[in-house]
Amino acid sequence: MTDGRRVLILGAQGQLGIELQKAFQGGADEVVALGRQSCDLAAPETIRKAMAEVNPTLVLNAAAYTAVDRAESEPELAMRVNGEAPGILAEEARRINALLVHYSTDYVFDGSKNEPWVEEDAVNPLNEYGRSKLAGEQNIAQAGGRCLIFRTSWVYSPHGTNFLRTMLRLGRERDQLRIVNDQIGAPTTAAALARATRAVIDGLDTNENWSGIYHMTCAGETSWYGFAQEIFRRVPVPKQKNWPDVVGILDTEYPTPAKRPKNSMLSNAKLYARFGVALPSWQDALGETLQTMRTE
Ligand SMILES: NC(=O)c1ccc[n+]([C@@H]2O[C@H](COP(=O)([O-])OP(=O)(O)OC[C@H]3O[C@@H](n4cnc5c(N)ncnc54)[C@H](OP(=O)(O)O)[C@@H]3O)[C@@H](O)[C@H]2O)c1
Repeated sequence: MTDGRRVLILGAQGQLGIELQKAFQGGADEVVALGRQSCDLAAPETIRKAMAEVNPTLVLNAAAYTAVDRAESEPELAMRVNGEAPGILAEEARRINALLVHYSTDYVFDGSKNEPWVEEDAVNPLNEYGRSKLAGEQNIAQAGGRCLIFRTSWVYSPHGTNFLRTMLRLGRERDQLRIVNDQIGAPTTAAALARATRAVIDGLDTNENWSGIYHMTCAGETSWYGFAQEIFRRVPVPKQKNWPDVVGILDTEYPTPAKRPKNSMLSNAKLYARFGVALPSWQDALGETLQTMRTE
């Protein structure tokens, strides 16, 4: 499934939405990218209107309620946006025979396994955000139609609210940072996700049934503490002050409204076996992001 598609990207101003626009521009595709103002996932009529007006052949849903801790006090809104809206999108996509690509999360798992999670593992979200994203996966499956659901983790980019940008800000303000060292996962760049998404879609054989869930993260693993250390190792020390001491702590020492899984590692073996697509290591992807931030 290659060039000449009519692509609808939702979540145009989000980390992934921005990178998907870059990944899909410059070819024969016609790309329409909408933000919350034009398509509000909490308002089903705006979803149906956008789908009818754009009449896409491919829908990339990068919009989501991503405030994990706030979702604990706004579970209904999180469920409308992350749970119900994807089902409506899938119904609409099926009606016009469009392919729906949707993104989900490692937070559908409870983190109790010692190895990387595979797609068939039992889900058991620990928080409201995870429950809402799981409902999204289930509602898409129930709607039927052609869909790809990519579960990813620890997403960041040069834009938006994310761990990298928070570390760089706090690192300039503080002399010590206490960072959780007993949650592990794979930091994944929105750019790597967007490129991998395009590679998968370009290679799809329309005669086969590939619909389903695939894990899609950068390769390797680290903790938040390891990620922070790597950031400060790579970014030159600012003029005003040295980078802070980074101290590893237990997640119990950093209580948050939403509980998070200890093991967020996702196996990408199914993605590679099915589509021959692999993402870079998290260290290489970090290097690329820092380079982009220097030049943008
Ligand atoms: N970030 C992570 O660490 C992470 C980890 C695993 C999976 N994921 C998944 O990856 C996907 C992309 O996430 P991201 O990191 O790019 O998130 P993001 O930067 O927070 O972007 C999400 C976008 O969705 C928009 N949005 C929120 N509520 C909306 C609504 N009611 N209607 C329409 N748009 C709405 C936001 O718009 P506003 O700017 O107006 O709020 C924002 O532009 C999501 O499905 C997310 O669940 C993310």
